[in-house]
Amino acid sequence: MKNEQVGVCIIGAGRAGMIHARAVAQLAGARVAALVDSDVGLCREGCRELGVGLSYGDYREALEDAGIDAVIVATPTRLHHDIVVSAARAGKHILCEKPMAMSVVQCAEMIRAAEENRVKLQIGFMRRFDRGFQQAKEVVQQGDIGEVVLVKSLTRGPSLPKRWQYDVGVSNGPLAEVNSHDIDTLRWFTESEFAHVYAIAGNYRCPEARAEFPDFYDNVSLVASFANGMQGFIDGAVSVKYGYDARLEVLGTEGILFVGQLADGSVAVCRRGGEIVQSAVASWRDLFAQAYMAEDEAFMACVRDDTEPVATGYDGMMAVKVVEAGNQAIQEGRPVYLNYEAR
Ligand SMILES: NC(=O)c1ccc[n+]([C@@H]2O[C@H](COP(=O)([O-])OP(=O)(O)OC[C@H]3O[C@@H](n4cnc5c(N)ncnc54)[C@H](O)[C@@H]3O)[C@@H](O)[C@H]2O)c1
Repeated sequence: MKNEQVGVCIIGAGRAGMIHARAVAQLAGARVAALVDSDVGLCREGCRELGVGLSYGDYREALEDAGIDAVIVATPTRLHHDIVVSAARAGKHILCEKPMAMSVVQCAEMIRAAEENRVKLQIGFMRRFDRGFQQAKEVVQQGDIGEVVLVKSLTRGPSLPKRWQYDVGVSNGPLAEVNSHDIDTLRWFTESEFAHVYAIAGNYRCPEARAEFPDFYDNVSLVASFANGMQGFIDGAVSVKYGYDARLEVLGTEGILFVGQLADGSVAVCRRGGEIVQSAVASWRDLFAQAYMAEDEAFMACVRDDTEPVATGYDGMMAVKVVEAGNQAIQEGRPVYLNYEAR
């Protein structure tokens, strides 16, 4: 690599983009070379906060900048494909936020562009860098709970979907935006591929979307079998209002393990009358702060040391494949098989 520090350009300076920008700004081996956002005011605000001198309204201009070695793509998902393919052709290494893209076909094109141009392509599955999840993986590998039987993962978010997210044809629904992480976690812990999925979904909390977007769901349950015979279950929800909820359970032949809890921290208050009060986790930003930092650090290490990313384009593509199958199962009311024979 020509530059001593990896020069990183963040494309999309919104919620996820600024988490990456703040993380990169703290890494010794990297520097934030530029921010890109079509919202020029937002971009300037981000630059001011981090003392970054360069900003662009159009990512194509940034890709011509020789001082940029790598990009982190954190725009809305529908733009990931075009930006990643252009970045690869410009010779920039890429960390692309999840969901990788809108379809398996797009993912395959992104992988091909990265391979042909010999750049790294990492996907933003930051739970793979979370200390709790990593510790759980070690426990499973050591055989402490025997053979894995069932992996259950849930993610529920507090906020109301943005208007474009109501259109499942445009957003791929909560299975994509919310549950991509759970899908990747199931592949990671089963070390296998989804063989078949069945899913049910409904809109329970967003009545304002019912007439215009009858396909929109704010609650989904997905059950799966894996090629190696293991079982999986994913539970997803948006607009739950009570907090941010991300938990994992792995059931084995000799025991069980749990990762995560709804309560934030270890303080519980019990007053006269006996009621115990604890706060719920408020945001993914707080819950996974360590994981985002470790994810960006690992990406820089791949670029500098020319090693393979932990979460690859293939992992991103397989998650999108399960999203497509899950949405098909919901729409057609039947199990969907993914060409991986269950044992
Ligand atoms: N890994 C995670 O846990 C995690 C968390 C949140 C979001 N995400 C993903 O990150 C992506 C962004 O989500 P978000 O919540 O940060 O959205 P956001 O709306 O907060 O930010 C997106 C930003 O992209 C900008 N943008 C739109 N079009 C653009 C263009 N053509 N060029 C440059 N910038 C453009 C918008 O102005 C906005 O500032 C999504 O794919 C989302 O699924 C991942």
